[in-house]
Amino acid sequence: MEIRKAVIPAAGLGTRFLPVTKSVPKELLPILDKPMLQYVVEEAAEAGIEQVIIVTSPGKESIASYFQPQPDLDNCLSGSPEFLDKVRHVSNLAQVSFVIQEQPLGLGHAVLTAREAVGDEPFVVILPDDIVVHIPGVVAQMVEVSQRYNAGVVAVEPMPWEIVQNYGVVDAVSAGTRLHKIRGMVEKPKREDAPSNLSIVGRYILPPEIFQCLERTKPGAKGEIQLTDGLLMLLKQEELFAYEFLGTRYDGGTPMGLLRASLEFALARDDTREETRSLLGSLDNQ
Ligand code: G1P
Repeated sequence: MEIRKAVIPAAGLGTRFLPVTKSVPKELLPILDKPMLQYVVEEAAEAGIEQVIIVTSPGKESIASYFQPQPDLDNCLSGSPEFLDKVRHVSNLAQVSFVIQEQPLGLGHAVLTAREAVGDEPFVVILPDDIVVHIPGVVAQMVEVSQRYNAGVVAVEPMPWEIVQNYGVVDAVSAGTRLHKIRGMVEKPKREDAPSNLSIVGRYILPPEIFQCLERTKPGAKGEIQLTDGLLMLLKQEELFAYEFLGTRYDGGTPMGLLRASLEFALARDDTREETRSLLGSLDNQ
């Protein structure tokens, strides 16, 4: 079945980025000149997603205004087509709508909040903290896998064992190149309890049946309703695959991860490469 909708949870408090997240949503923090959120909306659009549902929380209204057309700004930029294009591009990426998660009850709960907006069709979940660089993007890769097997797909990456406790981790058996059939999964296990080091990265293709599961999911790790626990329940009735995506992943959820992404993106871009190289060279000499 065609996948037309994406849910992007963007309701978290962004505590790792305090104090800036007192008034700027984490998802609008930039890699160079573009918010993390825009990179993932572009990834969705590239995969053919037409409707993007962003789950926000009270106080994060600036996310909605970022995606709205701003005629006054357009007027000011009328003599600068290059800037005008950048501004208009944001509002033209997809049809973007918003649902509000009133209380911070966890990622699973945030996804459940989008139930009505998604309706009875498969959809993709994209966590905007995880930025992955590849052409085609991870969502496009996963749509292909999901359609080939007619099943849900979770993106995974083998992580160093000492950090698996920060992730959801799958128990899976090989099902082909880069593909594993999931048998179980656990959210933020201790290293000694982790079934593998195949850790979940923030991209999921899910059937609508996940909503009934999330409705029945009890708070788990960190006292929150976890998407991983909902998926574990779904696994009793549906097949799920873990897909080792192609691409480089950046952890935009921490200041150092965002700094690394910014430097590597600057080195990859024609207009910023040389200056970044000489900046890094001059730091090396200190
Ligand atoms: C969330 C998920 C976790 C996943 C991670 C990927 O955790 O709950 O399963 O591995 O995203 O970034 P969070 O980073 O919100 O704690």
